[in-house]
Amino acid sequence: MATVRASQTRSNLGALMTDTNVAPPSKPAKAMPDAQTVTEVKHWTDRLFSFRVTRPASLRFRSGEFVMIGLMQTDEKTGREKPLLRAYSIASPAWDEELEFYSIIVQDGPLTSRLQHIKPGDDLIMRPKPVGTLVHDALLPGKRIWFFATGTGFAPFASLLRDPQTYHDYDEVIITHTCREVGELDYGRALIDSIRKDEVLEELIGEGFHEKLRYYPTTTREESPKMGRITDLMRSGEVFRDLGVDPIVPETDRAMVCGNLAFNLEIKDMLEEYGLREGANSDPKEYVVEKAFLD
Ligand SMILES: Cc1cc2nc3c(=O)[nH]c(=O)nc-3n(C[C@H](O)[C@H](O)[C@H](O)COP(=O)(O)OP(=O)(O)OC[C@H]3O[C@@H](n4cnc5c(N)ncnc54)[C@H](O)[C@@H]3O)c2cc1C
Ligand SMILES: NC(=O)c1ccc[n+]([C@@H]2O[C@H](COP(=O)([O-])OP(=O)(O)OC[C@H]3O[C@@H](n4cnc5c(N)ncnc54)[C@H](OP(=O)(O)O)[C@@H]3O)[C@@H](O)[C@H]2O)c1
Repeated sequence: MATVRASQTRSNLGALMTDTNVAPPSKPAKAMPDAQTVTEVKHWTDRLFSFRVTRPASLRFRSGEFVMIGLMQTDEKTGREKPLLRAYSIASPAWDEELEFYSIIVQDGPLTSRLQHIKPGDDLIMRPKPVGTLVHDALLPGKRIWFFATGTGFAPFASLLRDPQTYHDYDEVIITHTCREVGELDYGRALIDSIRKDEVLEELIGEGFHEKLRYYPTTTREESPKMGRITDLMRSGEVFRDLGVDPIVPETDRAMVCGNLAFNLEIKDMLEEYGLREGANSDPKEYVVEKAFLD
């Protein structure tokens, strides 16, 4: 397999990060435990941004996994500095020399009220222990894979959609992304566009690999070409008609789900009704689920 150099891929996939603040080549900072240096930041809406950080040379992860990242904060009782950490899906693929994250901004959120202000050259903490269920290892072989995302639940799929294994393992790759507003689809749309244009990925995976990739964005509260929750569009059969594909069956379909809790539970029930069973790293089956945030 050809070696993918980040310097090459960044010129293509990294087109995602145009209009960003770009730092000069950075050295890993050591002022904090497990510190990494921010290299790029891009704000997509007033409540969504993505950023890239240096990657520890020793960090190995499987596309789709998450890590704990955060900032130092002062403990009110002791006055001591301690880490404030939250789970974040790694949005970049395993072969990338940096790490990318895609984040919400919760104005009164303990972490993101501060994280929203990071800029190239700043440090953040990253615990180098990747875990998660949205990994190829947790699924049995199949022919078609569905990635179902709402909101920032797109993040793990931003990694998996750039992983050659996704296209080697499946004949069809379908990503659905449901958000309230049109602007909230921008990060995902830009990523899909960059994948379709990326010559290095094409060289790595095979000519025309992106023809396997189908993208199905929907909005629920702002007018767009396709309105509605993905669950409702599946129930009515509209998504299958729109894509011109057969409904989901356990023999050939595999699925990964990442969104809010209510969405995860609803789509889980639907996948079970189609005959798919929930898998895990230790017990691969036909679908896997992970929360995009805790409630
Ligand atoms: C396995 C896992 C992976 C995660 N991956 C990501 C990721 O890749 N990107 C990301 O932005 N967040 C992700 N999160 C959520 C993240 O851990 C934090 O909750 C988020 O960064 C907000 O942190 P906070 O301290 O500002 O607010 P918190 O106190 O953590 O959350 C405050 C409230 O904000 C809302 N909220 C939190 N996160 C989100 C979100 N992502 N989308 C919409 N509403 C939210 C919830 O209602 C929550 O109760 C993930 C969570 C889990 C469990
Ligand atoms: N998005 C915003 O503009 C915005 C602004 C300020 C604050 N917030 C707050 O931030 C939090 C998260 O908002 P979010 O928009 O990022 O995420 P979200 O509430 O999880 O919604 C993301 C998408 O998932 C859909 N969805 C929700 N439940 C579903 C289900 N059971 N089945 C299928 N689809 C489902 C939503 O559709 P529906 O629209 O039909 O619910 C929406 O399109 C919420 O507490 C919200 O009040 C959001």
